[in-house]
Amino acid sequence: MQLKNKVAIVTGAGQGIGLGIALALAKADCHVVVSDMNQTSCDRAAAKIKKLGVKTLAVACDVSKKTEVDNLISETVKKFGKLDILVNNAGIFPFVSFLNMTEADWDKVQEVNLKGVFLCAQAAVKKMKAHGKIVNISSVASLIGFEGLVHYCASKGGVNGFTRALALELATKKINVNAVAPGAIETPGLTTAMTKEMKQGTVAAIPWKRMGTPDDIAQAVVFLASDQADYITGQVLVVDGGWTLR
Ligand SMILES: NC(=O)c1ccc[n+]([C@@H]2O[C@H](COP(=O)([O-])OP(=O)(O)OC[C@H]3O[C@@H](n4cnc5c(N)ncnc54)[C@H](O)[C@@H]3O)[C@@H](O)[C@H]2O)c1
Repeated sequence: MQLKNKVAIVTGAGQGIGLGIALALAKADCHVVVSDMNQTSCDRAAAKIKKLGVKTLAVACDVSKKTEVDNLISETVKKFGKLDILVNNAGIFPFVSFLNMTEADWDKVQEVNLKGVFLCAQAAVKKMKAHGKIVNISSVASLIGFEGLVHYCASKGGVNGFTRALALELATKKINVNAVAPGAIETPGLTTAMTKEMKQGTVAAIPWKRMGTPDDIAQAVVFLASDQADYITGQVLVVDGGWTLR
């Protein structure tokens, strides 16, 4: 897949799926702006991208804060003069049972996972031209339920609805909006959230008999970010080794 001379922003690119996406885009010859909560993790990711021979920029940004999001987009346009691809990857999945869930727990998850997608997409679209691509990282939790993740499942269901509605609204501008819904993916975030027993149970339930890797997700994102996906919009592509098939 060729993304030569395209410019992409990946949020939450300091580790895990976001870093995998940033690396895969760079391997496809795309210039990549890496963004995460703190400058150190952005710089670390940018150093890896640079080694792949493309241009990069490291901008710290909390996606739930409008001023920081606006700064991310303006720094990108200042350096590269354009923006072709936005990957809304930043997300959190703190397990907490429904009755113990505080209003603050609920708000935090919606602010990062759903409001962050809205803020980044709105600021990005203002700078995008025809053939621009937005790829939102949803989750299989948008389609099936998970105990301890009521707030998360709601936020990712919201991401799917957002994806479809925005795809319709941006069709006249010829900007594609799609989502990738990962299954269980081996990342630092998931390792912290799941016990060894939970992980074993999950692998047993996945027809492919393994957890996914960040690159499994990244390959789907690279495709949806490419011109080969020009006629695909408003879709949620599940990448889960068959986990949700039964
Ligand atoms: N790992 C999985 O199994 C899995 C499955 C389905 C969906 N997802 C989704 O994939 C995305 C990435 O997950 P991951 O497993 O790589 O997680 P992770 O915790 O390993 O990495 C997430 C990154 O996002 C950053 N981040 C968190 N809050 C942020 C904010 N407010 N602003 C900017 N950056 C922020 C973190 O600093 C971190 O670097 C998330 O949207 C998650 O919901 C993950």
